[in-house]
Amino acid sequence: MESITLTMPLDMHLHLRDGEMLETVAPLTSYSFSGALVMPNLVPPVTTKEMVKEYRKRIKHAIGRDDFEPYMTLFYQNYSREFLESVQNEITAIKIYPSGATTNSEGGVVSFDIEPMRETLQAMSDLGIILSVHGETNGFVMDREAEFMSVYEKLALNFPKLKIIMEHITTADAVAMLDKYDNLYATITVHHLIITLDDVAGGMLRPHLFCKPIAKRPEDRAALLKVALSAHPKVMFGSDSAPHPKHTKESCGCGAGVFTAPIALQLLCEVFEAHDQLGNLQAFVSDNAQRIYGICAEFKEVVLVKHDFVVPEIYGTVVPMKAGETLKWSIERVD
Ligand code: DOR
Ligand code: ZN
Repeated sequence: MESITLTMPLDMHLHLRDGEMLETVAPLTSYSFSGALVMPNLVPPVTTKEMVKEYRKRIKHAIGRDDFEPYMTLFYQNYSREFLESVQNEITAIKIYPSGATTNSEGGVVSFDIEPMRETLQAMSDLGIILSVHGETNGFVMDREAEFMSVYEKLALNFPKLKIIMEHITTADAVAMLDKYDNLYATITVHHLIITLDDVAGGMLRPHLFCKPIAKRPEDRAALLKVALSAHPKVMFGSDSAPHPKHTKESCGCGAGVFTAPIALQLLCEVFEAHDQLGNLQAFVSDNAQRIYGICAEFKEVVLVKHDFVVPEIYGTVVPMKAGETLKWSIERVD
């Protein structure tokens, strides 16, 4: 196949930041996607109705077009039912972070004991608010996601009507959970379909591939590929594209995050084509998300063709994944 048209692509896990960075990165996603689930890990995190509304306004302003919807999230705290009722029309999900698990997550939860969270999670379940989860413990870095599976089980069993999204899964253990509990779903990034820990640290250290959760073993990547390529009905694309300025990545304290926003669709075509599964890309990048989240995306058609695309070295201050390399697919036009 030399060309493919994707209808209403969605990125169900995206970091847009704020200020100048927002102005740089938001248009890169809104050009080729119909919408994105926008993460709330700003400094300070997005925790009030006012903050959600103001942030959405700043995103819309940075985008400057109508054919893109920023699906907003709140940063999890033990919110009251009354508050959740008042904010539910402004948000699509609530994102929960273990404290300190990743960039700007210091205000996250210190324990996943159910009882202190029961009132909030039950109210979310009753109101149909989705819980999206950064699922890592504070254990050994390669085991953090696998160790978190018992938390997912506890959440899924205690709140069987709550839709729980395992964000950016990186392990075969997480893939196995999809078929175990009806109310567990997952997002998968494009970089975790391509790289393993070897690419990050097996040779020269590659800071622009360093993210949380860190890329794992070849057998984990194989498990992710299996469900992504077959567009398993419970998985969706979420880039976790996370911009950090070049000098903070190329430093002795490199922040976690891979920036893929401007190359995500091109790379996805490359991966799906390499496995002869281009026909399933539409479901992975849009249809599944619309069904799982119950959203009706803004109309957009993106035509990709099999022409070389040389990835720019930098966007503003941010180095993208594959900087300077040539991708096999490029975006021909967006209707
Ligand atoms: O690598 C990551 N970067 N993982 C996350 O969960 C957060 C993100 C960021 O905000 O930079
Ligand atoms: Zn993220």
